[in-house]
Amino acid sequence: MKVRQPIVTVLGHVDSGKTSLLDKIRGTGVQGREAGGITQHIGASFLPREIIKKRCGPLYGKISGSDVQVPGVLVIDTPGHEVFTNLRARGGSAADIAILVVDVNRGFQPQTSESLRVLQARKVPFVVALNKVDQIPGWRKSDAPFITGAIEIQDASIRADLEQKIYDVVGTLSVLGYSSEAFYNVKDFAKEVAIVPMSARSGVGIPELLAVLVGLTQQYLSARLEQGSKESRGIVLEVNDEVGIGPSANMILIDGELGMNDTILVAKRDGVVSTKPKAILLPKPLDEMRDPRDKFRPVERVEAAAGIKVASPDLGGVLPGSAVYITSDAAEVGRLKKEMEAEMKSVFIETETDGVTLKCDTIGSLEAVTSMLRRQQVPIAKADIGPVNRRDVMGARAVKENDRHLGVVLAFNVRVLPDAETESDDYHVRIFSDKIIYSLVDGYSKWVEEDAL
Ligand code: GTP
Ligand code: MG
Ligand code: NA
Repeated sequence: MKVRQPIVTVLGHVDSGKTSLLDKIRGTGVQGREAGGITQHIGASFLPREIIKKRCGPLYGKISGSDVQVPGVLVIDTPGHEVFTNLRARGGSAADIAILVVDVNRGFQPQTSESLRVLQARKVPFVVALNKVDQIPGWRKSDAPFITGAIEIQDASIRADLEQKIYDVVGTLSVLGYSSEAFYNVKDFAKEVAIVPMSARSGVGIPELLAVLVGLTQQYLSARLEQGSKESRGIVLEVNDEVGIGPSANMILIDGELGMNDTILVAKRDGVVSTKPKAILLPKPLDEMRDPRDKFRPVERVEAAAGIKVASPDLGGVLPGSAVYITSDAAEVGRLKKEMEAEMKSVFIETETDGVTLKCDTIGSLEAVTSMLRRQQVPIAKADIGPVNRRDVMGARAVKENDRHLGVVLAFNVRVLPDAETESDDYHVRIFSDKIIYSLVDGYSKWVEEDAL
C-alpha cells in the first residue's frame, strides 16, 4: 500500500520565527518580502529528502535511533498573529506532524498555547523549536551548526539560563499533559516531546531539529501504513490568471490524489463548481508556493501531500481558502457539491441592518477580520470577497445616513475600483484600505474614537 508524503505544519506565536526557520532550511527569503514582516496566509513548500539529509548532516537518522527512509515532506507555514485562529486551525488540521516554534526569550505566549490546543485536539505529534537562542543575553556566537556544540562553549551562567528556559517550557507542557525534555535527554521519542534550542538566524540547532523531525516522520509513516485510504481533498491557497496558463488555482492536496481525469469541486462566490484540470503543475522543490522562485512543471497525476497549481478555464473566480474535493466517480459529484454548499453559507454576510461593509481577498482573511470586528462589537452589514465596487460604497453611503461611523468600507488586501473611488469621493464615504489585518481594524477604530471626541 502507498503511503503519502507527510505534512509538517509549523505553528507558533506571531514573530516566533516560523517563516524564518523555513527560509533558513530552504535557502529562501520569503519572510523579508512579507507586508509588515507578518504571515497572513497559509504557505506551502516541498522539502525533498536530500535537503533534509543535507541539513541534518551526520545526524540524519541517528537521533531517534532508527534507520530511516523518509520521503520528502510538505511543510505548511501558518500565521501566528492572533486574528488568524482559523488559519492555524486549518493548517493544524492538515498536519501529520508539527513544529511548534517558541521564542526562547519569551516562552509560551497566547498563540503558542492556542496552537498547541489545535495539535492536542488532533493528536498530532510535534517537536518544540526553541528559537532565537542567539538573542539570549550574553550568548557567545560561533559557527557551530550543532546546538550541542554551541551550548558547550557558553559560560556556565548562560548554560544555566538556557536550562532554566527549557525547564520553563517543560513545566508548561507538563501542565498541559505532555512530558517533554531537551532533545539530548529524551530516551523515547514516541513518549516524550523533544525540545530543540536553535536559531533561525544563525542556523544553529537546525540539524538536530530536522533529525528529531525525521524520527517523528518515521513513527508517523509506520502508523499510517496500517490505515485505510482517505477521500481526496485539499484547500485553495490563491487564484491567478496568468499569461499562457489562464485561470488557475494554487492548492494544497492534503489527502489522496489528483489526476487529469478526476473531477475537482471548488467554491465560487455564487456557488460550487466542478471541473476537470486542464493542467496540473508542480512547483520546484523548496519553492514557497506563495512566493516561488521558478516555474511550475506539468504532471499527469500527483499524490498527497503536495502543493500544486491547477489550471482550468472554470477556475476563474474560485475563492481562496475554499475547500477542494476531488473524485474520480461522477456519481459522487452531486453529494460532494451539497456538502460544500452548506460549508460556504456560514462565511458571507449580507444584511439590511446598519453595519460596516467589509471586502477581503480570501475566505481566511474574511473570517479573521469578521471575528476581530465582532470582538470589538462592530456590526457588519456586508462581508464579501473581491475588489471594492460602486455598490459597496453605495451600501455604505445608505448606512452613513443613519450612523456616520458604520457607513464605511473596510478593504483588506483588495483593489478599490475606479467607480467606487469616484462614488466615495463624491459622497464622502470613507474607505479604509490596508494590507495588514490588525492595522486595518486599528485604523478604523482610531478614526471612530477621534471622530467621536
Ligand atoms: P508570523 O508568521 O507573522 O507569525 O511570524 P513568524 O513566526 O513567521 O516569524 P518571522 O519569521 O516573521 O520572524 C519574526 C522576526 O524575528 C523577524 O524579524 C526575524 O528576522 C526574527 N527572527 C526569527 N528567527 C530569529 C532568530 O533565530 N534569531 C533572531 N535574532 N531573530 C530571529
Ligand atoms: Mg511567518
Ligand atoms: Na512575522
